[in-house]
Amino acid sequence: MADKKDDVVLSIRGMSKSFGRNRVLDHINLDVKRGTVMGLMGENGAGKSTMMKCLFGTYQKDEGNIFLNGKEVSFSGPKDALENGIAMVHQELNQCLERNVIDNLFLGRYPVNSMGVIDEGRMKKEAAELFRKLGMTVNLDQPMGRMSVSQRQMCEIAKAISYNSKVIVLDEPTSSLTVQEVDKLFEMMRMLKEQGIALIYISHKMDEILRSAMRYRFFGTAIWL
Ligand SMILES: Nc1ncnc2c1ncn2[C@@H]1O[C@H](COP(=O)(O)OP(=O)(O)OP(=O)(O)O)[C@@H](O)[C@H]1O
Ligand SMILES: [Mg+2]
Repeated sequence: MADKKDDVVLSIRGMSKSFGRNRVLDHINLDVKRGTVMGLMGENGAGKSTMMKCLFGTYQKDEGNIFLNGKEVSFSGPKDALENGIAMVHQELNQCLERNVIDNLFLGRYPVNSMGVIDEGRMKKEAAELFRKLGMTVNLDQPMGRMSVSQRQMCEIAKAISYNSKVIVLDEPTSSLTVQEVDKLFEMMRMLKEQGIALIYISHKMDEILRSAMRYRFFGTAIWL
């Protein structure tokens, strides 16, 4: 019987993207298997985030095909990608600073009760359960703006995990994390891998890639190896 861990969950074929005359991606291929980490390394401006944003539907690719579990997909936007099993932690934090942790976690997907009213009790319960499972201590009622950047980044990571996605993209997730939080993130990634989730890990930090990635890719401005 074929080893299920060898299954390619995500396959990108011939992806290209230009911004005006700046051809950032030129026929890129990438295969990612379930239960593995694919590390992506490359110089500033090489196109790592652009490629992931094309996958996630934030940008529309110029050409190429994306296959999820062998089925071709093309997401109209992040909501579509999230609903179809791809989550992404962005390099830039994009949170509602005046809203609390729970609101940020459920933004765009508030659960409603049978009366059509937002079910705050359920939100609180599910948020507490998520952070408990991840071993994180977070004040759920605290406005995001009052939290440290590293805590906010950890909340974004928790949010990405909460979608129960098949593929999670982490774009420079440790840029402002403390050493302890980085350890926690790697522990979370190990847990996710064991659940069969595929991770794409973008970093400039060689030691992180070597620590986390089973496979990795280097790429430069024009050449992807
Ligand atoms: N929205 C945009 N409009 C115009 N140009 C863009 C846009 N997004 C990215 N670019 C350009 O695309 C190129 C690749 O940028 P990208 O952010 O994907 O690189 P990166 O590999 O993620 O770099 P870094 O390591 O600094 O995060 C750069 O030349 C950048 O200026
Ligand atoms: Mg980037």
